[in-house]
Amino acid sequence: MEYISTIAELNKVRNNLHSPLGLVPTMGALHHGHLSLIRRAKSENASVIVTIFINPTQFKEGEDYQAYPKLIESDLSILRKEKVDIAFVPPVAEMYPHGFDSWVEVQKMGHLLEGASRSQHFKGVATIVTKIFNIIRPNKAYFGQKDGQQALIIKQLNRDLNLCVDIVINPTVREHDGLAYSSRNINLSLTERNAATILFKSLEKARKVFLDGDHNAKRIKIVVSELIKCQPLAKLDYISVADAQTLQELTEIDRPTMISLAAFIGNTRLIDNILI
Ligand code: PAJ
Repeated sequence: MEYISTIAELNKVRNNLHSPLGLVPTMGALHHGHLSLIRRAKSENASVIVTIFINPTQFKEGEDYQAYPKLIESDLSILRKEKVDIAFVPPVAEMYPHGFDSWVEVQKMGHLLEGASRSQHFKGVATIVTKIFNIIRPNKAYFGQKDGQQALIIKQLNRDLNLCVDIVINPTVREHDGLAYSSRNINLSLTERNAATILFKSLEKARKVFLDGDHNAKRIKIVVSELIKCQPLAKLDYISVADAQTLQELTEIDRPTMISLAAFIGNTRLIDNILI
């Protein structure tokens, strides 16, 4: 595996890689969710590049940019073991040099849900993903359903800006008790870690209510928020029952739907979703 930290170095080796080229963009602190993307990319491509870049522009002031876990040495040993071809790990100044002043924004969807709670978040995500696509020029890029809205936004910008990357979305990987793997789980205390299972439990309860015949979005949202209220360490940010393609909120579940939520467990903000 080659470790590369500049765009100039990357350009030198890029054309020697075999096609198809698969890309897995990450912010590091790699876990089983990332591994599922890397292994799928390995199985579907002749070469694989994994990027590790904690993108400052997708964090707003007061969020956890500084506290975001940094485990570069263990990340690199994981990538070596997985036999990825290149780990691209640029410093911030390489991606945002002095004078940087161009942005990519997905208008409508970028301001819903996570975009409403975290203003500018998806502007940062869309910009960095576009830059990474332009630098690496992959045939396929792999993202997780764990960040369901992010996946839809990346599909949209890829379509709108004719980036011509085949976007692959992999299912959410969960721990034994249903908690979705997330780099932020490292920041949970043991009690918070156990309390965090309430996210998936409440989504599973929503699925059960739906399967038992109640398709009313408002009632399903109440069931979820009541359940989360029972966990004293959890504070719900939002619960959404929305069209799985457009993310427009629904009153009745009468089409493919994404139920998604964000909640604080102590000081750590976690997200999760299910598709029904
Ligand atoms: P990061 O949170 O590191 O996630 C990298 C990729 O791993 C994303 O596509 C995310 O959806 C996927 N992922 C995370 N947890 C997962 C899980 N439990 N199961 C399946 N996939 C999972 O998402 C980002 O980084 C950034 O926003 C990025 C796209 C790299 C842009 O900066």
